[in-house]
Amino acid sequence: MPRELTQNRIQKIWIPSKDGKPSMPRTSHGGPHLANPPTVIVMVGLPARGKTYISRKLTRYLNWIGIPTKVFNVGEYRREAVKHYSTYDFFKSDNEDAVKIRQQCALAALRDVKTYLTEEEGQVAVFDATNTTRERRDMILEFGAVNGFKIFFIESVCDDPNVIACNILEVKVSSPDYQDCNKTDAMEDFKKRIECYRMNYQPLDPDQYDKNLSFIKVIDVGRRFLVNRIQDHIQSRIVYYLMNIHVQPRSIYLCRHGESQHNLQGRLGGDSGLSTRGRKFAGALAKFVEEQNLKDLKVWTSQMRRSIQTAEALNVPYEQWKALNEIDGGVCEEMTYEEMRERFPDEFALRDQDKYYYRYPSGESYQDLVQRVEPVIMGLERQENVLVVCHQAVMRCLLAYFLDKSADEMPYLKCPLHTVLKLTPVAYGCKVESITLNVEAVNTHRDRPEEVKRGPSTLIRRNSVTPLTSPEPSKKPRIEGLDDTIIREVTPTQLTLCSTSHTTLALSTQHWLSEACLRTFLH
Ligand code: ADP
Ligand code: F6P
Ligand code: PEP
Repeated sequence: MPRELTQNRIQKIWIPSKDGKPSMPRTSHGGPHLANPPTVIVMVGLPARGKTYISRKLTRYLNWIGIPTKVFNVGEYRREAVKHYSTYDFFKSDNEDAVKIRQQCALAALRDVKTYLTEEEGQVAVFDATNTTRERRDMILEFGAVNGFKIFFIESVCDDPNVIACNILEVKVSSPDYQDCNKTDAMEDFKKRIECYRMNYQPLDPDQYDKNLSFIKVIDVGRRFLVNRIQDHIQSRIVYYLMNIHVQPRSIYLCRHGESQHNLQGRLGGDSGLSTRGRKFAGALAKFVEEQNLKDLKVWTSQMRRSIQTAEALNVPYEQWKALNEIDGGVCEEMTYEEMRERFPDEFALRDQDKYYYRYPSGESYQDLVQRVEPVIMGLERQENVLVVCHQAVMRCLLAYFLDKSADEMPYLKCPLHTVLKLTPVAYGCKVESITLNVEAVNTHRDRPEEVKRGPSTLIRRNSVTPLTSPEPSKKPRIEGLDDTIIREVTPTQLTLCSTSHTTLALSTQHWLSEACLRTFLH
């Protein structure tokens, strides 16, 4: 018999109920209801091939679209286990003791992957390690098979020495591994580290050994791709995303339209034109853009009058996107917050209770906006310099993507009128500069009410289950518990390596990762 339906008051979606209670609560992460089993994305490739870069960027994207994702970086587990890195000798394949430690670290990370996907509502885990041997990948495949996780490999292949040298300079020489080392020595050591891996590297083989696996090979920094056996929606989305991103230096400029007539009156939405100060801002923006002296700047606006009037002043070609239109306030369009509180007190309170999920009657939520602006994000990823002239809620969504902000933070990000945010990619993240163009404007920002800050709302998402939060891209590595005697006995002095002799680690006599031990772990 069909169940009764009740409407969720925040999201305005219909939920089947039994005895008056919702019988199918929404997922706590609020993302799309995926019938799929969780996915482990396994990075593959020599060091300095952009694996961590891809892992973090992809994780940020997946979280932003509502798929809870976390990176597990084996290098961090290794640094936790072996506090002091000395030289590339640690990575030699005949350094048996170090090989065992690295194996142990990989297992510790996989154990955390399992916890994340089975107990913490994670949907996707990114296993960020070199995974350059078939033996290692076969072990991960078995781990996936026994736990019911889908495995998807992303391999980055690049042999351009200039690219590799730039990558090492950009991120590796400043890594914690080289904190006491000058850049030249760090560069030399890292190149030798790569050679240690190259000796045993077995790239994914699409024709024979790996022909049944699901993977994408990113070749020459995205100049070519090889895609094999895509199994589902998430994998095809990942492939699409990876085919759109690039690493060319550029900046993205985000701003709102100039102050509008509705802004002056404190009214939401509508389609009014610019105020006098709004027009002045448009002029100041034109001057600012000129001063930036940017090669091939693209300008994108919404289809609303106020953003088009702003872009017109720039005297350059621009493109209009309907997807950039401001959040649809539905029945509350063109009201002030006060009028909304008076006419729809319950709605007003519900929005304060859970602003990200709250959908205006006949209108939109921030969650809806994320879905709507996703093609804009994909477009921005493809472009070089772009200026986006948009609106308060839309700018918050875009900013949350670039700055990896949570669903909880997004609707309260500060995006004042007449201020340009310049976003420039650096290392694994994004640098933000805020440029105020010194034209006064009203303040349209409404803070999160105090009582919401204090009260523990059931709907506010916590880190581990938050769709849009990945404040620590890698979970704090936990290495204890997995044959930890071995790790504890490794002291910095014992690990001081030199190029002529291998480290002497005090290893437990216990049989190392016996088949039985591995099986217990995998299950
Ligand atoms: P790895 O994790 O493979 O050791 P990193 O992710 O730490 O390497 O390297 C970061 C650098 O890689 C950045 O400078 C970034 O621009 C670059 N990069 C990003 N994507 C790729 C790619 N597909 N191929 C090669 N380098 C890349
Ligand atoms: O007030 C300006 C405005 O862009 C409105 O059009 C829109 O409804 C509002 O900001 C979005 O901000 P918030 O989500 O904080 O209400
Ligand atoms: C590392 O220790 O930095 C590392 C990436 O480990 P692995 O090669 O085992 O993946």
